[in-house]
Amino acid sequence: MTVTTALDKILILDFGSQYTQLIARRVREHGVYCEIQPFNHDIAKIRESNPKGIILSGGPSSVYDENAPFCDKELFNLQIPMLGICYGMQYMSYCLGGKVDRSEKREYGRAYIGITKDNSLFEGVNSRQLEVWMSHGDKVSAIPEGFLQLANTDNCDFAAVYSPNRNFYGVQFHPEVVHTSEGSKILGNFLFKISNCSASWNMKNFIETKIHEIRKEVGDRNIICGLSGGVDSSVAAVLIHRAIGDQLKCIFVNNGLLRQNEAEKVQKTFRDNFHIELIYVDAEERFLRALEGIQDPEQKRKIIGRKFIRVFDEEANKIKNVEFLAQGTLYPDVIESISSKGPSATIKSHHNVGGLPDKMNLKLIEPFRELFKDEVRLVGKELGMPDEIINRHPFPGPGLGIRILGKLSKEKLDILRKADAVMIEEIKKAGIYNDIWQAFVVLLPVKSVGVMGDERTYENTAVLRMVESVDGMTADWSKVPYEVLGAISNRIINEVNGINRVVYDISSKPPSTIEWE
Ligand code: XMP
Repeated sequence: MTVTTALDKILILDFGSQYTQLIARRVREHGVYCEIQPFNHDIAKIRESNPKGIILSGGPSSVYDENAPFCDKELFNLQIPMLGICYGMQYMSYCLGGKVDRSEKREYGRAYIGITKDNSLFEGVNSRQLEVWMSHGDKVSAIPEGFLQLANTDNCDFAAVYSPNRNFYGVQFHPEVVHTSEGSKILGNFLFKISNCSASWNMKNFIETKIHEIRKEVGDRNIICGLSGGVDSSVAAVLIHRAIGDQLKCIFVNNGLLRQNEAEKVQKTFRDNFHIELIYVDAEERFLRALEGIQDPEQKRKIIGRKFIRVFDEEANKIKNVEFLAQGTLYPDVIESISSKGPSATIKSHHNVGGLPDKMNLKLIEPFRELFKDEVRLVGKELGMPDEIINRHPFPGPGLGIRILGKLSKEKLDILRKADAVMIEEIKKAGIYNDIWQAFVVLLPVKSVGVMGDERTYENTAVLRMVESVDGMTADWSKVPYEVLGAISNRIINEVNGINRVVYDISSKPPSTIEWE
């Protein structure tokens, strides 16, 4: 499903920058719809999609590299306003007859540009001298004919350039990163003053469009949706329910690896608050039996994934007239699968449950294929969903199964559930839950000596893991106040039988991972 209304659109061509998704997010923050496509996206398709402006992203290559990303030069004849960022600017200059100097030395980090000519791109910025973020080796040393200099730095004559005839712009710095003061203003100028976009992208319009599309596509047939309690599937269920009511059948599988009271909470929220038809499957015993004696994390994942498909499939087969399967797929997953390079694809592959749609022969309904996570949260808010669901931390499919190191048992799961609940309660009480990207407890199969009252104890160790991250690909440990750590530790050791020692994980990713298994 794609957005079908006549929205003003910006096309971002990805030349491999680590910041490409950030550019897209910044554009959307201005209320303008945008799409990312690989640098070699078909010109006919670009023409057809009729973007109001094109942004060429940066990238790690030099235009002189053997395998440098080059697009069809016809792109420069489309007469669509263009902004080249870093490599995008160098590539544009190179293709149009300018000169790019190769440099082994990278300029990385903070720099100051001086604006040398008034121009729409810098309209409304506060100063002639701007702090910007640079990350480049090569630089443009001679601009193509018809181009003008707009800004320079001590190290680079052409920090920003412009072609009045073509309506093309180039910036050597990165306006999309927060370290570029006025970066948002500069991007906004490209969208509204140069490309004449209107700010028509908002979640209210999005919801209306999607409801319309879903009704049209589904007709009088049924959709099934695997509800996990996480943000994406929850918001998807509420949106689809708004569109087709009881034709939506949600299936919630309790695999025995959920957080404390999770099964009850999900049922209550969706049945009582949203009046969504929810099929609850208690499969705890089946999962635990299948996992008996298993130590290896990847094997645990495989068993949990396979079992989930089997249980879900069984339930789905009991429902009549089902032709669709709803999934909360997000835009970053879509970009990754269409990306010409997709460097992160292999790292994340183990995270996909996979197999559901292929096996079940159902058509997919993925209402959030164009959205970033923060936009899904806005949709949820617009749909009147409680903050408690919208702001939830991500929770992995294999659940607590990968947070107990080694063999699983119901007893260990219950211990972990209690400790985990204490921690979440304490960080909510301290008002820091929403500042943390993911927080959880890990139970180690390591016993140590303690003393409680007059008694010597010999019990398990719990690890507190709290991280800051944007997308889970990299992460740093959260600098949580000592008092909060102290309160969590105290309560866990006092209230949870089976744990007598609590430690805090201060490893970043990479080289560690967020989960312990
Ligand atoms: P790692 O441990 O790889 O985790 O740094 C990054 C993010 O992915 C989540 N994660 C998973 N999610 N199935 C999932 O659905 C999995 O097998 C899985 N393993 C890790 C993890 O919780 C973190 O948010």
